[in-house]
Amino acid sequence: MHRALTVKNAAVIRWDGALKSGLPAGRWLRASCGAVHRIYCDYNATTPMDPSVRDVLVSTLDRAWANPSSIHLAGRQAREVLDDARYRMAKVWQCRPSEVVFTSGGTEANNLAILGTARLNRHRGRHLVTSTVEHHAVLHACDYLERHEGFEVTRVRVDPDGRVDPADVARALRPDTILVSVMTANNEVGTVQPVAEIGSLCRGRGVIFHTDAVQAMGKLPFTGMPSFEADLVAVCAHKFHGPKGAGALYVRSPLLPHPILHGGGHENERRAGTENVAAWVGLVAAFERFVPEPVFDPARLRTLTERLAGAATSIPGVHRRGPVEGRLSNTLSFSVERADAIVLLANLDLEGVCASSGSACSAGSLEPSHVLQAMGVPFAECQALVRFSLGRENTEEEIQRIIELLPEVVRRSRGG
Ligand SMILES: Cc1ncc(COP(=O)(O)O)c(C=O)c1O
Repeated sequence: MHRALTVKNAAVIRWDGALKSGLPAGRWLRASCGAVHRIYCDYNATTPMDPSVRDVLVSTLDRAWANPSSIHLAGRQAREVLDDARYRMAKVWQCRPSEVVFTSGGTEANNLAILGTARLNRHRGRHLVTSTVEHHAVLHACDYLERHEGFEVTRVRVDPDGRVDPADVARALRPDTILVSVMTANNEVGTVQPVAEIGSLCRGRGVIFHTDAVQAMGKLPFTGMPSFEADLVAVCAHKFHGPKGAGALYVRSPLLPHPILHGGGHENERRAGTENVAAWVGLVAAFERFVPEPVFDPARLRTLTERLAGAATSIPGVHRRGPVEGRLSNTLSFSVERADAIVLLANLDLEGVCASSGSACSAGSLEPSHVLQAMGVPFAECQALVRFSLGRENTEEEIQRIIELLPEVVRRSRGG
């Protein structure tokens, strides 16, 4: 399968989807496409499923395929497998099994947290607080409530590193504030937020606190959900070598957000829909293996990203974006003067490097990064964000290769 992508400089790039097919998880990262060796540096977008997780998932498809709501033996067996997954998740999360709600991923978990809690508490108040650098799964859910359901949203600003000041959150709270939502770590520039501090201050003021922890899991130390000081924590499996389409929301008892999917009484009346048992067992297996001891080795990835940062910022007009300290160790972002992200990414792709821009791609162009804009980056550069997010497969040789080709990629992308 080939996809054609027209970029501004009129080059036509063929993206070879066949590259990814037919190889075991992880192996395709090392595969070559023609003469080009592929270097995958887009682990914040997604990770390949770990072979051990895939084995668990596939065997669950075989042994627990029945509907867990069915009364018969096959159904009861599937229910047992699901109950076991929930129990194990609760054990690693350090919470009660009833506080685990499985979902279709991070987007749904965030939507359930925000829409469900706002609707539950609308009689108490209609004011929400979030930050300007959240993922669209949070920002757009808040926008929706503002536009269609009569809520008011305060979006707290960030400093030039993309960090939220808890004092600003405290100042934004009002008597009618019912929910605060601040992410644990930013997907575009890697900034780690002081969520426990924000959570404590919310708890002290009787305000529900939600954090989107999708990018943090497997990258930051994890000792259990209580450490977030949050009422709601969203996670998804595909960021730490689990399956796509599998996520979960920690819901601190006795909170009971309104469901956003209506139908059957699944997930204790909190999320209707026949359970995706195999994917959720895969999520739990990946969580147990790759989160308590982070699969993204902080020391190794910090060394690799700092090497890359040093080389990239020696190119005139290339600026590092996001903090040096207090960041995800695997995430490194740059803005590039006089260039456009899609051309940069296409040129990197031609050299075999899979990188990303944090922003959404629509109709062959990238929207300016709302995260960079919130950090006060000049507007023209908000359209030229390149994010390298490294992972366990990356080697020193691969980083050296990127360092060598980057000056030429930037020169070409500027049309020079
Ligand atoms: C911070 C953050 N939140 C939420 C999501 C959405 O998760 P999912 O892809 O599982 O819907 C992402 C995915 O990139 C993310 O980075």
